Amino acid sequence: MDDQPLKGQKALVTGASSGIGEGVARALGAAGAAVVVNYVAKPEAAAKIVEEIRGNGVDAVAIRGDVSKELEVEAMFAEMERTWGGIDILVNNAGLQRDAPVTEMTLEQWNTVLGVNLTGVFLCSRAAARSMIRRGTRHPISRAAGKIICISSVHEVIPWAGHVNYAASKGGVGMFMKSLAQELAPHRIRVNSVAPGAIMTPINREAWDTPGALEKLLKLIPYGRIGLPEDIGKVVAFLASDAADYIHGQTIYVDGGMTLYPEFAHGG
Ligand code: BGC
Repeated sequence: MDDQPLKGQKALVTGASSGIGEGVARALGAAGAAVVVNYVAKPEAAAKIVEEIRGNGVDAVAIRGDVSKELEVEAMFAEMERTWGGIDILVNNAGLQRDAPVTEMTLEQWNTVLGVNLTGVFLCSRAAARSMIRRGTRHPISRAAGKIICISSVHEVIPWAGHVNYAASKGGVGMFMKSLAQELAPHRIRVNSVAPGAIMTPINREAWDTPGALEKLLKLIPYGRIGLPEDIGKVVAFLASDAADYIHGQTIYVDGGMTLYPEFAHGG
């Protein structure tokens, strides 16, 4: 297999200064893509990842921008257009949690989560689609005119008490992605999602950083291990490549079996 299947392509990964986004940015760089490492609050972390990606002999740059803010998203894409002349791969990864029981959830907690996890996906996908459509389908380095990949969650389909804002945002990403895939297919823009299960990152530290918590978490993962950012990065790199050229409008669950109703292994 081609070890740099994304050679010459230009990717933007939102929320790439830590966690899954960092893993995705590294995997795309290793596959030969030039990578924009988008971040919002950690310039040093982003700069370090940029340096390491450049070690693959590809270009990389950090651009700040809050994906929930229209003007910041537009400025980020304009900068990418100026620097690299366009975009081949968008990975909508930026996401956060603001957990609370519904009776205590503030409107701010609701809006923050929907703003980043869903509106951010809309704003970035819109900007990428405009750029990809402008360039058109005559595109020598990939069979598709562009690829958009959303990082969703198992909570696209698994209800999650105490996290109604997060689950609603991911359910929204599922239907946004499919509708967008239908709409952009005539432009030969491929749109898909990767839905991670429990991946060891700062967002869910409480669920894995004590032996007791980890033991409880592993009961929900039939495959018996917590995921790592590179588990997601590899699948995203595959989905962005021509090897996945006929995959369109799909959510691929990368979750060690979390969506298999593990409790039913011994009951029902
Ligand atoms: C959440 C994590 C959680 C995982 C599995 C993810 O989408 O962000 O906090 O551990 O789903 O429940």
